[in-house]
Amino acid sequence: MKIIMLGAPGAGKGTQAKQIAGKYSIPHISTGDIFRANIKNGTELGKKAKEYMDQGLLVPDELTCDLVVDRIGQDDCKNGFVLDGFPRTIPQAEALTDALNKLGEKMDYAIDVDVPDENIVKRMSGRRACLDCGATYHVVSIPPKKEGICDACGSKLVLRDDDKPETVQKRLDVYHEQTQPLIDYYKEAGILKSVDGTQPMEDVFAEIVKILG
Ligand code: AP5
Repeated sequence: MKIIMLGAPGAGKGTQAKQIAGKYSIPHISTGDIFRANIKNGTELGKKAKEYMDQGLLVPDELTCDLVVDRIGQDDCKNGFVLDGFPRTIPQAEALTDALNKLGEKMDYAIDVDVPDENIVKRMSGRRACLDCGATYHVVSIPPKKEGICDACGSKLVLRDDDKPETVQKRLDVYHEQTQPLIDYYKEAGILKSVDGTQPMEDVFAEIVKILG
């Protein structure tokens, strides 16, 4: 099963993608996590990506497309994968479609997790992230067992640099301008499904499972 998660920053794509990956035993591929791991490890890609991410802007397509096309060609993706944060522009969607066409394959579902902007800013200021294992928490709705410490790996939790309110607003503007057009792109491809992302997380997941079967 090949799935794309669509939705605004903070809509809950990552939260749902991790659960989908677990239930259907497919890899979770998050371009945001890949860039953050590169930033943490001080790679050239990380240095370039950070310049854009800290401003709430998208990392250029030429740094992003090859990375994903290469990742989905790896052995563990043979039975499918869930893409979280990619594609984010029409050229990225076209690069993905072309890469799959060459393999005689296509995406099965694009799931749009729909959350209005006003809910997003609240969510982001409460999010705490583990930069070591990628787990995410929320100070109110999903607190870790021990404040500031990741339940999964024991590392320190942080407020992501790009979760500061002024950067969140910029990310939302960029989302509406560059990423929202993908909703029509995947509607036309006949694979778009929408879920109400304002519900509790378990209910959002139950809706997704109903779609995926
Ligand atoms: P990325 O890491 O992909 O960030 P994003 O899309 O902005 O999404 P987020 O990770 O912020 O949110 P999410 O939707 O996964 O929500 P989450 O589940 O964490 O990208 C970061 C940056 O990298 C981009 O800005 C860009 O610069 C760059 N980048 C990445 N991919 C790129 C690409 N393809 N092209 C170019 N640049 C790229 O949930 C958010 C919070 O809400 C959490 O605290 C969570 O616990 C909580 N929550 C989740 N669901 C619920 C619920 N139902 N109810 C209440 N709280 C909830």
